Amino acid sequence: MLVAPSLLAADFLNLSKDVRMLNEGADWIHLDVMDGTFVPNISFGFSVLEALAPVAARPMDVHLMVVHPERWFKRLSELGASYVSFHLEAAGRRTAANIREIQELGMKAGVVINPDVPVQRLYPYIGKADFFLIMSVFAGFGGQKFIYESLDRVARLRAEVTRRGCQAMIEVDGGVSASNAGPLREAGADVVVAGSSVFKSQDPLGAMRALREA
Ligand code: DX5
Ligand code: ZN
Repeated sequence: MLVAPSLLAADFLNLSKDVRMLNEGADWIHLDVMDGTFVPNISFGFSVLEALAPVAARPMDVHLMVVHPERWFKRLSELGASYVSFHLEAAGRRTAANIREIQELGMKAGVVINPDVPVQRLYPYIGKADFFLIMSVFAGFGGQKFIYESLDRVARLRAEVTRRGCQAMIEVDGGVSASNAGPLREAGADVVVAGSSVFKSQDPLGAMRALREA
């Protein structure tokens, strides 16, 4: 599996140290952008992303937890983001158009759902989206407990993608640790996001390795 540590759990007073560590051990760098409206929290925005972009040696994976995500695609492409995901709940009928816009800007497009959205609501975008992001906690905060029903949601989505003969990566985000990474891989996950379990570890590089090899 690929490991995408979430910068949300980094030490913001020592970001350059943590970015060096991610450049060494991460597959993707997961960047959680929150607007205080789509989710009841505010994280960081373009000032942080723009500072990070020139020093990030791994693909930037931007998870937009914002209303009107389409406002930011162009700017994200200009700063060199590789993967951009937005919530189905925020995009609604604009979902297919958003996917196209992200792809036309040369980035990979992902559609995200919170744990209370039926996984079938992603099915219309199989064959269109490059990846799907299944939240295994409710978006908004790091450090929450993994919701076990997420395993079944990943397995059902993986089965449907396979049944249709399509390609799509499945990413899982929230409460991921060494204890659930193996089951997630078996369920069909390709990429795991991990905030607390990497950054709060005594050995973050070892934690990333353990997730990758789970
Ligand atoms: C939650 C974010 C996650 C979060 C993951 O809204 O989307 O990416 O940072 O953090 P952990 O791994 O601590 O649950
Ligand atoms: Zn995230």
